[in-house]
Amino acid sequence: MTFDFAERIKRLPPYLFAEMEKIQNEKKAQGVDLISLSIGDPDLPPPQFVVDALKDEAADKKNHNYSFSQGESDFRAAVTGWYKKRFNVDIKQDEVVALLGSKEGLANIGRAFINPGDHVLCPDPAYPVYANGSTILCDGTPVALPLKAENGFRPDFEAVDAKKVKLMYLNYPNNPTAATVDKKTLKEAVEFAKDNNIILCYDNAYSEITYDGYKAPSILEIAGAMDVAIEFNSLSKTFNMTGDRIGFAVGNKQLITGLTKVKSQIDSGPPVYTQRVAVKALASYIGPDAPEFLKKNNLILQERRDLLVNTLGKIGFTCEKPKATFYLWFNCKGDSMAFAKKLLDVGVAATPGVGFGKCGEGYVRMTFTQPKERIAEACERIAGAF
Ligand SMILES: Cc1ncc(COP(=O)(O)O)c(C=O)c1O
Repeated sequence: MTFDFAERIKRLPPYLFAEMEKIQNEKKAQGVDLISLSIGDPDLPPPQFVVDALKDEAADKKNHNYSFSQGESDFRAAVTGWYKKRFNVDIKQDEVVALLGSKEGLANIGRAFINPGDHVLCPDPAYPVYANGSTILCDGTPVALPLKAENGFRPDFEAVDAKKVKLMYLNYPNNPTAATVDKKTLKEAVEFAKDNNIILCYDNAYSEITYDGYKAPSILEIAGAMDVAIEFNSLSKTFNMTGDRIGFAVGNKQLITGLTKVKSQIDSGPPVYTQRVAVKALASYIGPDAPEFLKKNNLILQERRDLLVNTLGKIGFTCEKPKATFYLWFNCKGDSMAFAKKLLDVGVAATPGVGFGKCGEGYVRMTFTQPKERIAEACERIAGAF
C-alpha cells in the first residue's frame, strides 16, 4: 500500500544535508574518527544545581499531572521575573506561554496566524524552521529576507516589498551567521512591522551565549514592540538543556493567546517538573549579569572560538570573532557543499551554508561545541586539507 503525502509536505524543500549525513555515516562505519563541528548542541553539561533540581522535581509525585496549556503560573512568574532582571522589561503573566523548547513555538505560531498564500518574511540564511516547519507547513509562502555580509548580516527593510506579508521572523544573535545587532536595528524592525501591520516573531535563543562583554538585547526593550512582537527563548542553550525541551514565548497578548490556542489542541504544555526546574534555573540570575556557571561556560566557549578563528585565519579563511552564539560563519571561497565534502575527507564535519538558504552559498558554518583538544585536532586536519 502507498500513501500520498499532503501537498504541503511535498512543498518542503529537498533536505540538502542528506548526502552529507550519508557520507558521515559511511565514514563512521569505516571507523574514521570524525570530529563534528556541525552540531548546534552544547557538549558541556547542565550546571549541577539544574541536574539536582531535575532529580528532586521528577521525584515529586505531584509533578506528573498535565500542565496548563499556557504553562504553570509559577513558571510564568519566573519568566516575567527574568525579563525584569535581565532586560528591565515589564511583562504580565498572561503575556507568557510555556513551550516544549522554542522550536515548537516558532513553528506553531504559524498555525495561529498564517493563512494559505500569506507571505512570511524569513531571513536567508536562517534556521530552517521559519520557512519550513512554520510557513510551508501552514500553506504560506516564504519570502527571503536576505542577510548579506556587506550589511553585517542584518536585514535591509527598505528593500522589502511588504505587500501581502503577514508575519516575519528575525533572529539575533543569529544562527547561522553569528551576527549580533544593536537596539537601532531592533527599532527599525519594530517600526517596519508596525508600519506594515506585520507580526514580528523574534527568536532570541542565543541571548545568553555571549562574549567579550556583549549583552544581547530583547526586542521587547524597544518602545512599541509589545504592539507587534512575540519573542521566543528557551533554557536549551543558556543552561545546556537542549534535550529537556523547555522554553517560552513572551510578548503581545493576542499573539500569545493565538499560540496558546494552537498548543491547547496539540500538547498539554511541558512536563510540570521541567517547568519547576526552569523556575530554579531562571532564579540563578540575580540581576542583568549572567550567573557564575554561565560566565564560566561562556569563557570556555570563548577560548574555543579564539582557537578556531585564529587557526582558520592562518589557513586563509578569515572571519571576525563572533560576539555571541557558538557558531563561526566564514566565506569558504567557493561551493559550500564541495568545501564541506573536502573536510569530511579529512574527518571533519562542518555545515555547508547553502543548507540554510540560497544566500548561504559560499559560506560554511562551524560550531565550537567540542573540547579544545578536538578543535585543535580538527584545525590540524583542515590545515592539511588546504
Ligand atoms: C536560531 C535557533 N532558534 C531556536 C532553536 C531551537 O531551540 P530549542 O527548541 O531547543 O529552544 C535553535 C536550535 O538550534 C536555533 O538555532
